Amino acid sequence: CGIVGYVGSGEPDSRPERVIMGGLARLEYRGYDSAGIALVGNDPDRVAIAKRAGKLERLSTAIAEHPLPPSTAAIGHTRWATHGAPTDANAHPHLAAGGRLALIHNGIIENHHRLRDELMAQGVDFLSDTDTEVAAHLLATYVDQGLGLADAMRAVATRLEGAFTLLAVDVREPRTVVGARRNSPLVVGLGDGENFLGSDVVAFIEHTRTALELGQDEVVEITPTSVVVTDASGAVVEREPYHVDWDAAAAEKGGFATFMDKEIHDQPTAVADTLRGRVDENGRLRLDEGLIDEYVLKSIDKIIVVACGTASYAGLVARYAIEHWTRIPVEVDLAHEFRYRDPVVNIKTLVVAISQSGETMDTIMAVRHAQQQGATVIGIVNTQGSTIAREADAVLYTRAGPEIAVASTKAFLAQITASYLLGIFLAELRGNKFPDEIAALLSELDAMPAKIQRVLDTAEPIRVVARSMADEHTVLFLGRHVGFPVALEGALKLKELAYIHAEGFAAGELKHGPIALVEQDKPVFVIVPSPHGPESLHAKVLSNVQEVRARGARTLVIAVEGDEEAARHADEIFYVPDAPVLMTPLLSVIPLQIFAHELASAKGFDVDQPRNLAKSVTVE
Ligand code: G6P
Repeated sequence: CGIVGYVGSGEPDSRPERVIMGGLARLEYRGYDSAGIALVGNDPDRVAIAKRAGKLERLSTAIAEHPLPPSTAAIGHTRWATHGAPTDANAHPHLAAGGRLALIHNGIIENHHRLRDELMAQGVDFLSDTDTEVAAHLLATYVDQGLGLADAMRAVATRLEGAFTLLAVDVREPRTVVGARRNSPLVVGLGDGENFLGSDVVAFIEHTRTALELGQDEVVEITPTSVVVTDASGAVVEREPYHVDWDAAAAEKGGFATFMDKEIHDQPTAVADTLRGRVDENGRLRLDEGLIDEYVLKSIDKIIVVACGTASYAGLVARYAIEHWTRIPVEVDLAHEFRYRDPVVNIKTLVVAISQSGETMDTIMAVRHAQQQGATVIGIVNTQGSTIAREADAVLYTRAGPEIAVASTKAFLAQITASYLLGIFLAELRGNKFPDEIAALLSELDAMPAKIQRVLDTAEPIRVVARSMADEHTVLFLGRHVGFPVALEGALKLKELAYIHAEGFAAGELKHGPIALVEQDKPVFVIVPSPHGPESLHAKVLSNVQEVRARGARTLVIAVEGDEEAARHADEIFYVPDAPVLMTPLLSVIPLQIFAHELASAKGFDVDQPRNLAKSVTVE
């Protein structure tokens, strides 16, 4: 979500509204399923607000029809829904204290169910389905107890679990905006007689280039002439301002040259957010929307994953894990093939539809077909309120945030993560695993964001090699087991971005045909599994590396750190951290994403919008 806050210098006027609406327009790339604004300083009893589901334009139109009053301070929000569908009611800001206080939020409040129950027991009425409204009412409770807005915000932050940036205004302090953050960004913009807050500097870059960042668990209070940052204990923290030298366009991309590069770097967060708060008090997975009778889930005898493109490769990865953990047979089908092949589907079939957009027509038609045959459908979807999210019997959201670049990256990692959560959930429900085994799998997943970060931090060698390969015409990718779908995805990325002929093969299939393609100096990527996994797997893939190398191929090997044997057979080696074999796709695909991005950039292509492709294909 995008967040912006502003406090102006003097008497109520229209500047707060203009600053907020301008900031929201710049932040719309962070989410665009609803938007809202709250202003104080005119009416001593009520915050003025306007909010609308849909793009920012709908909010602007609503404001043009019903103009907002002048104000001294304001906050605004553009939403990427995580809890509650994108509706007017669920749009931020959320009001509390009889309309005297308004709050906006970015992130996920994990313990919102518990806090909501507590507040409802105190007689609080809720108007939305969001986790955010809990924070608004909680803040009101502390303000009503006599705390100033900043102290009340600090008290709220100590009660919340999860990730959040919060901003609030209150009619009783009309020249103040307060903010707090944990695991979610908040930046202060320092003006002359006015101050700004934003989820990133884009929010205020047209007004000031002097900024300071808030540390973890800090609270900030801005007035026209002061910025006070305090830590969780209330002690004042001195933060050094810095100069922002980005131009506005680069700032929207977080300083990266392309959205795709930014999204590749968002991957640790995408996986961490997808994992966040999934397990309830009883250790059970919490689906986001819809409920499927446990009896139904216990009685299914087959799972069919339907998806297209990159999402289908996430399904292929998931098959290895779900079959291994649950012993339920899993098929993975391209949605358009599934729909027209007269598939065997019945009430004992669980169909898992994976889609970033939730709007891919092929996948929608597959979902409808499956439901007509009596199957239960779970959607693994990134976009709240999308067609697949609405039509599926239940939804497990990937929380990758908006993916702007056409070629999918962070959604892929989030899709694997969410499918794994589903597999773990089914294994537990059906008694395939003991609680300690479930806990071990979940902690393996929890360890992945840090490992993904490490891959990103050590990616320079793959960039160098990619830049030297702009004249290649064919690149092959080989992998076994979960490395096979990674090879397919690596090849797809290269086709999509660099328009180079690329093919992914199961390494074992090499000898049955593809090896005929290998010639002198032809680049072949091989994804080598960990030597600490099943012994035979590592040895088999290494012999495939030797087979292609013996025929003159230039071998580009992705292996785990410390695998010196792999290095002996590689012309170029790229290391990723070691991990249990089923977790490795979350790491080994990243050098391939970076390779395609870098090579396409070296050729001067538009990596965010490759020719002929669309982000979401809404025709069959
Ligand atoms: C299009 C995009 C691909 C994407 C596929 C599935 O073809 O270009 O990047 O993987 O659609 O999209 P979905 O939104 O259903 O995940």
